[in-house]
Amino acid sequence: MSALPLTRIALSDERQAEIRDAVRKATGIAFDEAPSRLAVAEDADAFFRFLSDPAIHGPIYNLPVPLSPATVGDFIQRKLDERARGEGLLFLRFDEDGDVIGYSEFDIWPQWGAGDLGGALRPDQQGKRAGVSGAKRTFDWMFEALRLELIVATGALDNVRTARMLDGLGLERKGEITSHRPDGSTRASQVWEVSRAAWFDAGEQS
Ligand SMILES: CC(C)(COP(=O)(O)OP(=O)(O)OC[C@H]1O[C@@H](n2cnc3c(N)ncnc32)[C@H](O)[C@@H]1OP(=O)(O)O)[C@@H](O)C(=O)NCCC(=O)NCCS
Repeated sequence: MSALPLTRIALSDERQAEIRDAVRKATGIAFDEAPSRLAVAEDADAFFRFLSDPAIHGPIYNLPVPLSPATVGDFIQRKLDERARGEGLLFLRFDEDGDVIGYSEFDIWPQWGAGDLGGALRPDQQGKRAGVSGAKRTFDWMFEALRLELIVATGALDNVRTARMLDGLGLERKGEITSHRPDGSTRASQVWEVSRAAWFDAGEQS
């Protein structure tokens, strides 16, 4: 059983069904530049090339090990299977050459009305706070389009930029957990959470 989310408030069957339905219907996020779309089997090679950079896969614990076009293809299929159950999504963003410039991965727990966001930007897109504005837009979308009540995010204890980003967006540090990589190794992670009420209250005040 997953250690996440740390905050667990059970939702009614009706609200759970609403969230599963929203996840099954989700197709991407309409960013002004490079809107994201669902990852499909044909994206495996481009997504593998993107993930192969250690600046991308290094800080992220749940990517396939070893990375190869085949294991990345399996990862894409697993996320499509999760989408069919209303429990997960994988979105990609592309440049005009068809290369991947970023991805967002969602793990959804309809029973708790909660969703975890993970992802990365290509190194040439990093360091310009595009990740910060993209995460803000994505959290809005998770509450509005997916109808969630709680958003969760985790980061390695030494991932300073992710910590700055999540603290700056008003998420609350909830403690540390042990995250498990697909190869069985572990990593300590800081956990952040924000409720729907806290997110929109903070948005109204800023
Ligand atoms: C994490 C990530 C999405 C952040 O997006 P980004 O657009 O590159 O963000 P930036 O680096 O411009 O800014 C993030 C914050 O870190 C700060 N920062 C950047 N480099 C820093 C450094 N070396 N030391 C301290 N703070 C730093 C920025 O000032 C900013 O803080 P602020 O909002 O208080 O100004 C992106 O860097 C990324 O894809 N990283 C690799 C994968 C990853 O770590 N994913 C998250 C795992 S859950």
